[in-house]
Amino acid sequence: MDAFEKIEQILKDIEQNNPQNTEELETFRIQYLGTKNIFKGLSPLFRDLAPADRGRFGQLLNKAKQAAKSKFDTLQEQLSIASANQVERPDLTASAAPQSLGSRHPVSLVQNQIIEIFQRIGFTVAEDREIEKDWFNFTALGMPQDHPARDMQDTFYIKDSMENLLRTHTSSVQTRFMKDHKPPIRIIAPGRVYRNETISARSHCQFHQIEGLYVAENVSFADLRQTIYYFAKEMFGATKIRMRPSYFPFTEPSAEVDVWWGTATETDRKITKGTGWLEILGCGMVDPKVLENCGIDPEKYTGFAFGLGIERIAMLKYQIEDIRLLFENDVRFLEQFQSAAIF
Ligand code: DAH
Repeated sequence: MDAFEKIEQILKDIEQNNPQNTEELETFRIQYLGTKNIFKGLSPLFRDLAPADRGRFGQLLNKAKQAAKSKFDTLQEQLSIASANQVERPDLTASAAPQSLGSRHPVSLVQNQIIEIFQRIGFTVAEDREIEKDWFNFTALGMPQDHPARDMQDTFYIKDSMENLLRTHTSSVQTRFMKDHKPPIRIIAPGRVYRNETISARSHCQFHQIEGLYVAENVSFADLRQTIYYFAKEMFGATKIRMRPSYFPFTEPSAEVDVWWGTATETDRKITKGTGWLEILGCGMVDPKVLENCGIDPEKYTGFAFGLGIERIAMLKYQIEDIRLLFENDVRFLEQFQSAAIF
């Protein structure tokens, strides 16, 4: 192969050589641009050329060197752009990072379900403060300062004032709402309540209640009974309820409501203490005095009210034995509600 053939061959090689990555590009660089590059080996051939041919050969040699250099520059730039892009561009073929799905707290699940049931029959949600005036929590509800029924609910007072307290029940929302609104009133009031009680598997110093209140013309005990029956049917699939006479300072007459739970299984018998009946709430006709306290004419309007504990219902529904689990927020406990219906 003479010098011209050789240089033509090198030119062709350069053209066909297409390094794909930085390693191949480095090999290319060493071969054509390094200190011992391929062109250096051509010197002896150059010396043997006839002087007339040397100019032409020199041009070809320069052409080859330039071709190598410009190819190297172009490829180097392309590769560095590609690697920069690689850093910024997410790998769309990678599998998605595992994301743990949150779950709703059982108290929220039950609360939302109860709200939803009452909303279907025209109740709207009313919420109010947890730090409440004594008057709304007790006095307006027929429990003046020395009333013995106050002992039923051990109260957290704020700064010994005896004027402000942590509400002991959501019945305080009744009195608040009646003071500010004219009948017809049809509300349910969910919220947190507090009682100064020793914490155990069965009782806690904080829990949640839902209060219901319906005040309008001609509201009767039959309306109350039918409303509670509808709720029991929707919530528990209960086929019957029973009402037992009871006492609350703010209702007259008052009743406690049991749903028919049945005695089919061991658990049914255990939670109903063998009777098949399960107490779910307290209720009654709003005492005319309470209406009057809140600026509503008891000659014109009547009403019913009811109150229930959400934790109690959640514990029944999900067979939770210890109320403390509902406040500890242990993820292992909460995770179990992952697949529960989301309301
Ligand atoms: N406030 C009562 C309690 O905390 C529950 C209750 C009973 C509310 C009867 C009512 C009612 O509105 O009519 O124990």
